[in-house]
Amino acid sequence: MSAPMENMPLKNKGDICEIEATVVSGFENVAKEEAEEKLKVPVDFKRGRIIFKIPTEDVNKVLELGGIDNCFVVMSRFSNVNFTNDELECMAILRKLVYDVNWKLGLAAWSRIFSFSHPIASVPDVIPKDLGEATLSSRFHNAKDSSQEPKKPKLSKSEKRKQRRLQARENKGKDIQQSTKEENVDNAEDLENAASLEKSNDISKDMKEGSETSQNLSDNIPAHVTRTENVETDQSPASKKIKTTENVQSEKLETDQSESREKQKTTCHDPTKPSFRVTCNRNGQGHPFDSMGAAANFGGGVFNYFNWNVSMKNFDIEVILNIEDRDVTVCLGLTRQSLHHRFIKAFGPTALRATIAYNMLRLCKIEPGEVICDPMCGGGTIPIQSAVSYETCASLCGDMINNAVKRTQQNIDFVCQTQPISLDVVRWDVTKLPLKTESMDVVITDLPFGIRSGSKMNNWKLYPNTLMEMARVCRVEKGRACLLTQDKKCINKALSITAKYWKCRNMVGFNMGGLAACVYVLHRTIEKYNAEHAAEMLGEALAHAKKKEGSPVKTNQP
Ligand SMILES: C[S@@+](CC[C@H](N)C(=O)[O-])C[C@H]1O[C@@H](n2cnc3c(N)ncnc32)[C@H](O)[C@@H]1O
Repeated sequence: MSAPMENMPLKNKGDICEIEATVVSGFENVAKEEAEEKLKVPVDFKRGRIIFKIPTEDVNKVLELGGIDNCFVVMSRFSNVNFTNDELECMAILRKLVYDVNWKLGLAAWSRIFSFSHPIASVPDVIPKDLGEATLSSRFHNAKDSSQEPKKPKLSKSEKRKQRRLQARENKGKDIQQSTKEENVDNAEDLENAASLEKSNDISKDMKEGSETSQNLSDNIPAHVTRTENVETDQSPASKKIKTTENVQSEKLETDQSESREKQKTTCHDPTKPSFRVTCNRNGQGHPFDSMGAAANFGGGVFNYFNWNVSMKNFDIEVILNIEDRDVTVCLGLTRQSLHHRFIKAFGPTALRATIAYNMLRLCKIEPGEVICDPMCGGGTIPIQSAVSYETCASLCGDMINNAVKRTQQNIDFVCQTQPISLDVVRWDVTKLPLKTESMDVVITDLPFGIRSGSKMNNWKLYPNTLMEMARVCRVEKGRACLLTQDKKCINKALSITAKYWKCRNMVGFNMGGLAACVYVLHRTIEKYNAEHAAEMLGEALAHAKKKEGSPVKTNQP
């Protein structure tokens, strides 16, 4: 972690907000450098994110950063929250935090980026006395309770038969008892209670569904019912039914006020209020709740506080609840979808994130007027990003596959609808580039990993051939190459074969969809390209590839 931000100079406190932005893990330093350079503020970082404070009026500039995926404005940080072992208590604590969140700060930053047809108050006209009853809606809770049920001992066949006979006799007696008791229960009231219970749970369910959307969870049991049934697991079916009804009645009394408020709200959408959803990210051990329950309860609190509408899909405001051990951070989302989605309309099987492409370009330390080439461009993410971000440079790209060339052209056309870029795409073979010797400053590409594109076997030949051809077209001494791959064995072998021409200056490892990928930044040595020497070296590479395969190497058709 870099130096704490508290020691760095800041403008007057009132205008300042704290921003957290997510970055592909491994590129934190690159993103930090970019943010410091463009925003002129000190930037801190931790795994997968960068953190900085900026004047609220500059919040728009954050979205112009090329290396970040999502960003949030931090409204409040609560340290050492007193979470107990009781899930319900924890849920109540989370609901109450809503009162202490600095909504004013968050909404001020939010409104720099988004707009809403009506003014959004950061404090409600009447502050509600309570924010609704905490509910147990997490999957964790249900799983925990079933796991806590005493395990039945294993019985032999004769013991099982005996037990069944006894059970049948018991049930006969219970049936008589049950019919008598049921007469005492007012059926109409029972139904009414069930209906009101359902309504009072609507919000929790709604919020729960939201976290299911973002976290892909599923559980539709109303929270109050679940809780009651868990308490009464040792009861017979008849008495259980009565007890459930009794509990419903007492709970109804307790939560009468908040239920009627919630009932009203669930039935009508108020167009003068924004819609919101809560997303929870939970990290750490020993929480007696899961992120779904936390989002549901915090969301219930926000709902009761502001009277905002709940919408999981078409939300205006996304409230982010980050829980890390006992520390809770509450943020507002400043991006509706990850910024890596920019530029690409026609996706290929191995489309790269634009944010990774941008971070790779930054690693090359590109200077104005340089020529940048991606010789294996796929759908064109890297060259399009390069043409957009380095307008004073010349960008060109190509691919061996016709469809890839077409996709790149479609993506170029798509980007040109909003911003004109100058980028040519050609169909070529990277091992025989139609480019002059020493004509490129930067060669940058995302190599086939040999998983979804190409094959590991072909990479033994393709990688050294590619590096050798790149050595030819790159300017000696000044030229750089930036290569992304997951096939470390092949790239290391290729680097040793071409060591005369390339020196590896930087390696950035990162997680790419579960694969341990790495970006290699190479600098061209002063050694002039020599075709004879290259052929000799590649002959060795071919022999090595043949040895690996045990037969002649296949074509490098991906
Ligand atoms: C990992 S993909 C690149 C994906 C790209 N970065 C994107 O965002 O879409 C690798 C590309 O290398 C291309 N390729 C493989 N062998 C090639 C060769 N000999 N010459 C040129 N391109 C080649 C493949 O067609 C594929 O499109």
